[in-house]
Amino acid sequence: MPGTCVIGLQWGDEAKGKLVDVFTEQHDIVVRYAGGANAGHTVVSGGQTWKLSLIPSGILRNGVACVVTGGVVLDPAAVIKEIYGLESRGVTVTGKLQISDRAHVVFPWHIAEDKVLNESLSGGESIGTTGRGIGPCYRDKVGRSLAVRLGDMYRDDFPAKLAHIVAVKKRLLGVGQTDDLDATVILEQYQAYAERLRPYVADTTAFLLDAVEAGKRVLFEGAQGALLDIDHGTFPFVTSSNSSGLGVASGSGVPGRWVERVIGVVKAYSTRVGGGPMPTEQDNATGQYLRDRGNEYGTVTRRPRRCGWFDAVAARYTARLSGVDELAVMLLDVLGGLDEIKICTAYEIDGKRTSQFPSHADDLKKAVPVYEMLPGWQEDISTAQTEAELPATARRYLARIGELLGRPVTIVSVGPDRDQTITCHRPATAAAPWPSPPQPVPANA
Ligand code: GDP
Ligand code: IMO
Ligand code: MG
Repeated sequence: MPGTCVIGLQWGDEAKGKLVDVFTEQHDIVVRYAGGANAGHTVVSGGQTWKLSLIPSGILRNGVACVVTGGVVLDPAAVIKEIYGLESRGVTVTGKLQISDRAHVVFPWHIAEDKVLNESLSGGESIGTTGRGIGPCYRDKVGRSLAVRLGDMYRDDFPAKLAHIVAVKKRLLGVGQTDDLDATVILEQYQAYAERLRPYVADTTAFLLDAVEAGKRVLFEGAQGALLDIDHGTFPFVTSSNSSGLGVASGSGVPGRWVERVIGVVKAYSTRVGGGPMPTEQDNATGQYLRDRGNEYGTVTRRPRRCGWFDAVAARYTARLSGVDELAVMLLDVLGGLDEIKICTAYEIDGKRTSQFPSHADDLKKAVPVYEMLPGWQEDISTAQTEAELPATARRYLARIGELLGRPVTIVSVGPDRDQTITCHRPATAAAPWPSPPQPVPANA
């Protein structure tokens, strides 16, 4: 069976882009199947940094097909800009990239709606979206009557459809927000985008089904993180797609039976950008230390990321939810220089200790982390090439993460470059039953 997927188990930015780039060599096709221009995936290689948003991180390697499926919401202006950006730096895109004709298209009104809705959530904390029109575009997809798919833009009735949608949007949104929505201008603009994108548009569902049935090796590149999953994340502080492993099949059109390897990606600590509960957040000098060392500023919006200790309750939940076989622990180098490192092994909610991740954001907000303390390391680990070269305390930290999440750590990243990656040789535990949660050592701090 030919499929591997890379799924972020936290709130996004787990370094999925780096991992996908590393794994691309072993695959024929790399697939983005959810999210949109809210994603910002970074690859560093040969002194160059690449920021990918809608195009799969596999595009940087030759001989690999890259596919954007119908589960993605596509901002045509953003993808065209990305194509130009890559080509101007010598990366071939034409002939390698396919975009699904089923992908829903982001329009200016989606971005305008995102801005208005993001200002506050029923008077409370704002979601803090990336402002890329993601939620409103997915909402129109589910609502159906005001949605446009990429394939629709090549049909004769596109002008009429667009004029109708603009008229309805103006009524729904109110004149104040929509003064600049001019159907003729938008039509002209989007017809030009459609022409520019024509060489890439394909029925990617058919392509991928043929590919897996022919034994091609397909790498599914998750976007966002499983805690942002619309159905299973920290709702409503989530994104609008199934960003956990559960979204691979519906987003790509490839049934889960073709996926044989699910890699859960975590940072060695936690970050979150935007609003919503984050029990282990360190809004203090420790958080700043992690932010400085990890350069924790959003790839898309440059917002400072909220930083905190590794939350094993949350990551164990999302590892199970995503059907993870093995773990990749990224940015381990960032934890260097700390005397001790904490891992959250349980929550106390209303005085009760639990290792279950709450379903309601308000309960998660009340969660007081129960920490286990592990010794840190002072050595620079950024040049380590094998697990044996890591300090014993770093190895102990990794082993504890594996134990708490119930899956082995098979990959460790010690720096942003593709070469700063350690493969750990451990037996696979695919489909092994999940062990019961380890008892936390009660050492609250
Ligand atoms: P993604 O959205 O999951 O692909 O992650 P981002 O690219 O948004 O954020 C990850 C950041 O960490 C990027 O700036 C990477 O270059 C950087 N990075 C990746 N792996 C490592 C690592 O092991 N150590 C350090 N220090 N930085 C890393
Ligand atoms: P990658 O793929 C981190 C967050 C936003 C906000 C919430 C909803 O780079 O890991 P949206 O614009 O999707 O409606 O915002 O989700 N968010 C991300 N955070 N990494 C991402 O993508 C994210 N994509 C969305 O900050 O809190
Ligand atoms: Mg990112």
